[in-house]
Amino acid sequence: MKKRLFSGIQPSGDVHIGNYLGAIKNWVNLIDNYDCIFCIVDYHAITVDYDPVDMQKRITNAVAVNVAAGLNPERCIIFVQSHVPEHTELAWILNTITPMGHLERMTQFKEKAQQHAANINAGLFNYPVLQSADILLYKAEVVPVGADQVQHIELAREVARKFNMCYGNVFPEPHVILSSAPRIMGLDAKTKMSKSLNNYISLVEPPESIWKKLSVAVTDENRKRRIDPGNPEICNIFALHKHFSTQEQIEWSAKGCRTAGIGCLECKKVLSDNIVKELTPIREKAEKLLNDKDYVLNVLQTGAKKCREIATQTMAEVRAKLGLR
Ligand code: TYM
Repeated sequence: MKKRLFSGIQPSGDVHIGNYLGAIKNWVNLIDNYDCIFCIVDYHAITVDYDPVDMQKRITNAVAVNVAAGLNPERCIIFVQSHVPEHTELAWILNTITPMGHLERMTQFKEKAQQHAANINAGLFNYPVLQSADILLYKAEVVPVGADQVQHIELAREVARKFNMCYGNVFPEPHVILSSAPRIMGLDAKTKMSKSLNNYISLVEPPESIWKKLSVAVTDENRKRRIDPGNPEICNIFALHKHFSTQEQIEWSAKGCRTAGIGCLECKKVLSDNIVKELTPIREKAEKLLNDKDYVLNVLQTGAKKCREIATQTMAEVRAKLGLR
């Protein structure tokens, strides 16, 4: 039997190349070796201010883009968190064994509390408990994520251990799988690429927009003039070359930067062409899927049905252990 793998993505705006390199591409690579479940985590997305009118569209887009990027729903489960109510039920139970101190330490909570100072709600604070519930509900053993989520998965391990200790063995302790690009920086080269900061290239970004964004993206800031030699190791454009370009182009870019043999714009143009080449089929496929009105609906209905079966079983076990039958 294959081990179970679980991961999730928020429907909180455009899916970007940070999500793609840090998570989705890895999911696609792992799909045949694990029993995979991928979740669009809408309950997580409502912990910050959002427009309810857009929510369904954002969910549909997230599904279409993920499928277009290679998550074939014939080979994995794709579903929406709120379609399986056991997620919030288990989250409540796990809340009762999660120390407040652990949640206070969460880096993402501290960052988001700063970003959303006018709306620091209890859901934002308890966010990692719901994330633990997502994983444990399916008894997932592996969780492929980007570096920013590692702390949350470590919490899920602790929560699983504590539950098993207090009430008896139910949950395996999940392990993180990191991709080869666990932390992609934004085009400002200062902050992590993120939906909430406008510093990203979307997976469905049109070619002219990719170039427009890259042409003003921050490079090695010490390289002020075309004739100044630069340091590729501290240049975010070079970092992106490593994920989109051929070995030959990567070497050309590193050497050209160090010797001032090429200009930053020239270097960006090659990167831009490569990103366009990789993203165009994804954008076109996503558009096609979105034109088929029922496609996403069917994927999600099938996914929710399969997940509910697993979730019902786990919750029966959990309730029995808690003496709640
Ligand atoms: P989210 O929606 O922020 O991101 C989805 C995935 O993309 C990764 N990622 C990145 N990787 C590299 N560089 C970046 N700049 C970058 N930005 C995002 C994230 O690490 C993530 O793997 N809390 C989660 C969603 C979630 C989840 C779960 C994940 C809810 N329940 C259970 C795993 C298991 C989140 O907000 O991801």
